[in-house]
Amino acid sequence: MTQSKPKLRLGVNIDHIATVRNARGGDHPDPVAGAFAAIRAGADGITAHLREDRRHITDDDMERLQMLCENENIPLNMEMAAVDDMVEIAKRIKPHAVCLVPERREERTTEGGLDVAGRHNTVAPIVRELTDNGARVSLFIEADEKQIRAAAAVGAPVIEIHTGAYAHALLDEDFEKADKILQAMISGAKLGHELGLEVHAGHGITFDNVGKIAEIPELVELNIGHYIIGEAIFMGLENAISEMRNCMDDARGEA
Ligand code: PXP
Repeated sequence: MTQSKPKLRLGVNIDHIATVRNARGGDHPDPVAGAFAAIRAGADGITAHLREDRRHITDDDMERLQMLCENENIPLNMEMAAVDDMVEIAKRIKPHAVCLVPERREERTTEGGLDVAGRHNTVAPIVRELTDNGARVSLFIEADEKQIRAAAAVGAPVIEIHTGAYAHALLDEDFEKADKILQAMISGAKLGHELGLEVHAGHGITFDNVGKIAEIPELVELNIGHYIIGEAIFMGLENAISEMRNCMDDARGEA
């Protein structure tokens, strides 16, 4: 039986345009101009991570990104740590979506997703507060049954499955490990969907590894940054985004 697959949205993460800008401390290249170009090139959403150390995106970038996305009617997905001062910033900026990610060692699971199961008492009130303020909250977690059930239990409507370990296993040519992680992502996405969660995925996605991820029928969004921005150096941002879009559509069986 063929399962119908919802269209897979492409969220473009523009953090590393800011990384290049910050290398010189000026205002070029501007990640907001990059977001505008990404939208023109077909991005379905813009993602940016306001890190506690502000190593790339700044508070001012985030405010300008929200203005741009509002004008363009495109969702802004703000990635941030599950800490009180970030919650206050998110409440002020009011992005469409907030994705809670681990930044410190003790917030992570073994592979690197947010330890929602272990931090239920910290994460649950933050999910509630952000939701009450109108954000669609997602939790960046490993494809692990315990974490997925915990995400549903804290009331998050969305999970983003961490694809980083899969990407690394492929780079290491450890195909057995990659396949094991892929199977976990497939069953994790299915479980998330059954629990009523919207399922996204991201981290370390490239033209070469996106296919098997994009084939997972329950996924509705991929968030991709570093590789697209890196390829943009060689082929331009527009081409890098449309090539990624083509890879996703091919895997999905969409024309
Ligand atoms: N999704 C989340 C939750 C992330 O934290 C990141 C990295 O900021 C990405 C997706 C994008 O990962 P990459 O830059 O490796 O494509």
